[in-house]
This record gives sequence, C-alpha cells and structure tokens, in this order.
Amino acid sequence: MKKLLLFCLAAMAFAACTKEQLPVADYDIIPQPKEVRLNEEKPFELNFKTVVYYEAGLEREAMFLSEYVSNILCIGLNQHEYHGQTDGIVLNIVSEDFTQAEAYEINVTPKQVIIKGADAAGVFYGIQTLRKSIPVSRLFTDPQQNFNVKLSDISCQLPCGTIRDWPNFSYRGMHLDPCRHFIPLDSVKVYIDMLAMHNMNQFHFHLSDDQGWYDTIRHGGFYTQDELRDLIEYAAERHINIIPEIDLPGHMQAALACYPHLGCTGGPYEVWKRWGVSEDVLCAGNEETMLFVEDVLNEVMDVFPSPYIHIGGDECPKVRWEKCPKCQAKIKELGIKKDDKFTAEDYLQSYVMNRMAKVVEARGRRVIGWDEILEGNVSETAIIMSWRGTEGGIEAARKGHDVIMAPSSHLYFDYYQSEDIASEPMCIGGYLPVERVYEFQPMPEELTPEQKKHIIGVQANIWTEYIAHFWHVQYMALPRMEALTEIQWNNPQERDFDAFVERCRHMVQLYELYHYTYADHIFNPQVWADTVEANLATSKPITLRQQPAEQYSYEGAVVLNDGNLGRGAYNSGRWLGFCGYPLDAVIDFEQPAEMQHVRFHALTNKGAWIYNPSQVKVLVSDDGETFHEVAQKDIPISTWADKDGIFAYEVDFKPVTAKFVEVVISGYNLPEDHSGFGNPAWIFVDEIEVE
Ligand code: ACM
Ligand code: ZN
Repeated sequence: MKKLLLFCLAAMAFAACTKEQLPVADYDIIPQPKEVRLNEEKPFELNFKTVVYYEAGLEREAMFLSEYVSNILCIGLNQHEYHGQTDGIVLNIVSEDFTQAEAYEINVTPKQVIIKGADAAGVFYGIQTLRKSIPVSRLFTDPQQNFNVKLSDISCQLPCGTIRDWPNFSYRGMHLDPCRHFIPLDSVKVYIDMLAMHNMNQFHFHLSDDQGWYDTIRHGGFYTQDELRDLIEYAAERHINIIPEIDLPGHMQAALACYPHLGCTGGPYEVWKRWGVSEDVLCAGNEETMLFVEDVLNEVMDVFPSPYIHIGGDECPKVRWEKCPKCQAKIKELGIKKDDKFTAEDYLQSYVMNRMAKVVEARGRRVIGWDEILEGNVSETAIIMSWRGTEGGIEAARKGHDVIMAPSSHLYFDYYQSEDIASEPMCIGGYLPVERVYEFQPMPEELTPEQKKHIIGVQANIWTEYIAHFWHVQYMALPRMEALTEIQWNNPQERDFDAFVERCRHMVQLYELYHYTYADHIFNPQVWADTVEANLATSKPITLRQQPAEQYSYEGAVVLNDGNLGRGAYNSGRWLGFCGYPLDAVIDFEQPAEMQHVRFHALTNKGAWIYNPSQVKVLVSDDGETFHEVAQKDIPISTWADKDGIFAYEVDFKPVTAKFVEVVISGYNLPEDHSGFGNPAWIFVDEIEVE
C-alpha cells in the first residue's frame, strides 16, 4: 500500500512536471520586434532533437544559438550545414530580401524555423530574439522541481508566424571606463555578452585618464596587446566593434606621471588620487608631445581594427597653456587669434585634435570626440559624441558632423537610479531612474530631415570613479540597458512604460540565469512619504530674494516649506540649488509668532561640486521690510574624509516674536584640494523648519 502511494505521488509529480515543461515562447521582448504576425498553426516544438542548420559562414551563429538554448532550456542542439533540409532551425543570409544592414526575419512553421538575415549580424540578432523569447527553464528558476525530469520532457513551443525586425540606429553602443577602477578582462567579456544580448554593436573602451588611485589606495592593472586582441576577437564574434579611446589633450595626468616632459610645467606629476579634472594636461606647444601622441594612436590602431578611434577632447582646462611659453609660441606660430567666440587656447586644442584626426584618417579610420571639440574649428569629418546634453549634438548635426547622442541627463549610468541613496551603493551623484532613460528622444525635432541623418547612434556611459567592482558595473547597467536598447533599436514614437516594465521582467530571468547583478527598483516601486512635522514655516507664503539656478529651481520657493523633506539626489526635484550667491528666503507667518529654532537640510556631493553651507543667518521682521539679525552660525567645510550625504543643520536663539523670518544660507568656494578650486561650490537645500 505504501509502495503504491509513493508511486502515485511520483506519477503526479511527473505529470505536473511534464505539463509545466511545455513552456511557450513569447516574442514580446526587448527590444520589441517591429513586426510580429502570428497564426494559429500548430507551434514548432523546440526540443533536444531539433537541429540547427546553418549556411556556410554562419557556423558560429549556430554555435551561439545552441549555447543559448542549452543555457535556457538545458538541452544542447546539434548543428549541421544546411543543404535544403525541411526541418529544424535554419540560419541563412538573403541580403536581397532586406533594405538595410543588420535586419532579420524569423519564420516559424510547425516543421521548421528559418532565421534569415540581411547579413550575419542580422542572423545574430534574430538568434538573440529567439533566445529572449524562450522562458528560462524551471529547472533553473525552481531547482526544487528538477527531480525526475528526462531530456525528452524538455521542450518549448514556438508560436507560428513571422517576425520582421531592423534597427533604427546603425550605431548602438555602451561605454566602460577601466581607468578609474580597473576591470579585469574576464569581466569585460561579460560586459560584451551583456551588450550582445541587447543588440548593441559598439563598445567604447575608455583606455586612458588622470587617475589610477582612489582614497590614496593604489588600484590598477593593465591589458597586454595580446589580451586586447583576444578581447577584440571575442567582441567581433558577437558582432561588436571595440572603439578604443585615448582621451586628449586633457585627462592625461597618469601619462604625465610617466612622461613628465610632455606636460607644460615638466612636473613632477603623480597619477591622480582625486576625482575630477586635472589642470595638468599635455603640452600642445611641444612637438615631442605631439609625436608621442601620434605614436600612441598608431600603436592603438595596430591593435584595434575599429573604423572609429575616440580621441576624447573633453574637459581640457587651459590654465597651463595660458602660461606655457611653448604653447604660447605655438599659438603665434600657427597665427591663432582669439575671437568673440573662442580663446586662442580653444583654437590650440582644435589644432591638436585636427592633427590627430589626420593621423587617424591616414589609416582609413574616423575620429570620435566629445562635444567640447566643437569649441574651435574642428574638422567636419569628426564624429561628435554629445554628452553635455543634446545641444552639442544638434549644433554638430547642423554643421554636418555625424553625431552620437550620449547626454549625461539621460544616458550616464554612473548616476543613482533611486532616490533612496542611503540604500544604494555609493555613486557619483545625479538621479537617473529607468523611466528617464526610457523617455529619452535622441532625434531632435528641430533638425531638418537631412540633418537628422547625421544622428547615427545612441550610447550610454559608465564611468567608474565610484564603481570598484564589476558587480556594481552590472548593477548600474541593468535594467537601464533595457531602456537604452529600446531607444537604440526602435526609438519608439509612442512609449508605454508599464508595458516596457512587463517586458523587463522576462529579462530578469536571464539576468538571474547568467548571475548578472541588477537593480530592481522598477519592479518594487517605492513611494516616499517623508514629511516633516508641521511647524511655523510649513506652507506659509515664501519668497526668495534671488532665484535658484534655473536647472535646479523646480517648483520654486515653495519646495522649501511644503512639508516634504529633501530626498535622493540633488536633481530629484526635491532640492533647490544655488551657486555663487546665498539662498535668501523670507517666510511670512501671516501673524506674529514666537520662534527660537531654525532647522534645514542640505546635501553634500563633493565630486559634483556640492558642499555644505558655510553659514546660516536668521533675521526677523514685523513689517517684512526692516529685518534684524537674531542668530548666525558658521559651519565647517566638509573634507574628503567626511561622507557625502544629506545633513540637518540647526540654529537656536533667544525666543523672539515676529511676523516674518528671513533665512540666509551661504556657500563655500571649492577648497584647494578640489579640482574646481576657487570656483563657488553649489549648495542644495530643502525644507526650512521654524519652531
Ligand atoms: C565626460 O563625461 N567627461 C565625457
Ligand atoms: Zn605647454
């Protein structure tokens, strides 16, 4: 009896299992295929007997498909060359059936699946679509289930129909910075796998910068030429081109530490231990420096076959050049004159960039530069990477440059993706939730159709000042990469964030399968309800004697006493930002009130030039015109040893009765150990409370 019961239980478990082992593919993936037409025919059954047939030249694609199915369903597929077989999955290239590169079509019939590409990349993207459509086997998602499953039990139904798909942008990239924190080669390969899964074809590898240390702890590493060649091949197999960046002529302090004679002062220099932008840059007036850079670029081009070579050009302070006899002599020699748009030193940078562009172009490649290279007279052949917003990209397209949109406002994945920064791994600041990435419109409406053709692509960047480990890189990338992918591949005219989140859920199965670390905020939305207790100031009429900076003014003065406490990043809309002048707020209690205490919150983010306030003053008035001071408090400046974050500041004073209170909160200038030394620091303040 006992035996029989056991047998019955096992049979039931098996029956339940077999039923659930028949999952159905769902083509509603990321990026969403442009055309999906399904029919009612009996689905194709993908199982361990399915063979992948490939046309000559697509053997590697067949191997990838087999590997993915093995990862997802736990069954390997045999692969054979295609000779007109009428079953299985067929991979072929029929370029004449398509009007653009990288396009593909998947035809699913009860007997056969054909993945046809405009080229091998198109076939590869068709394979990615199939891969993302198949639900991850419960053998992986629910390991408790995996007893008594036979190979023959495993299969997936592919609904019949046709999928046609093609990319909107030919350049679809992501960037990674292995300078601030070194990223081992194996991890870079995983990053490339992530790009491949998201139909990207460009990997921008930022290979040189100022830093190599952090918090005075030595940190670093290197890639040998052979390792890079191996990486390039690994990427190429996945239809990804690696674009090397040698950032010129700024962001070069690490190179100057090794070759001090290439700088304007001759050094000594050390590899930089602080974040920010070093004022020590390459000497543009020294011919030896120029020859050195040409050498480096040639060596880089020997290793990287990329059609694009990134030569940086961002954030190059000109203070050394202004004082350097060699740089000034070069300006004279070249006959450079400042004009009402740019300084002579700006044009000197154009000389450097254009000279290096010629070296690159002599080898049949094209240069990419950050949008600062528009400041001067950069050659029209340069591709502009627009990072300080989209304005640079718009200007560049109007001037006839090709453009890659990578604005920090929407595509800097080193920014926080949650307002609850206390619960996040520390990062550089900012606030860029998935929603904002998904909203990004890369094609500026103000461009003409002809100018729009110059917007060739979209890219997101991951800088690693605050990212010391690869799990953290992944956490910053995922799931924002899903939103980026939608924009790069589809640039949808209508966007439905809720539907997009649903499609992200399937991607999470793949993240889990491949052990990718990811952020889960969009799946567990949090509602902030941080309010302060009602106090004398709450919701009373408030005026500012000087408005906040336009980009950080949001709903204006009322933000300061609406009862909601400042949260999250400085650009979350819950803070008002001031720079170079104090916050000076007058609150009208509407009737005399007794007070003895003022409290407010401010945010520090030193890397983003945001420091704590230097001083707070409290003044009172009965008529709103004549004020007298009742309290003043100085606040010591935050140092690099102090944590960034949100802090409360309080002032107590002898009880006083008045109808108006004025709170004046001043800021510091950036201290000597800050890269922006001497410039005014920002202050970000919220919720002034008076009791
Ligand atoms: C940049 O973020 N400095 C290009
Ligand atoms: Zn110089």
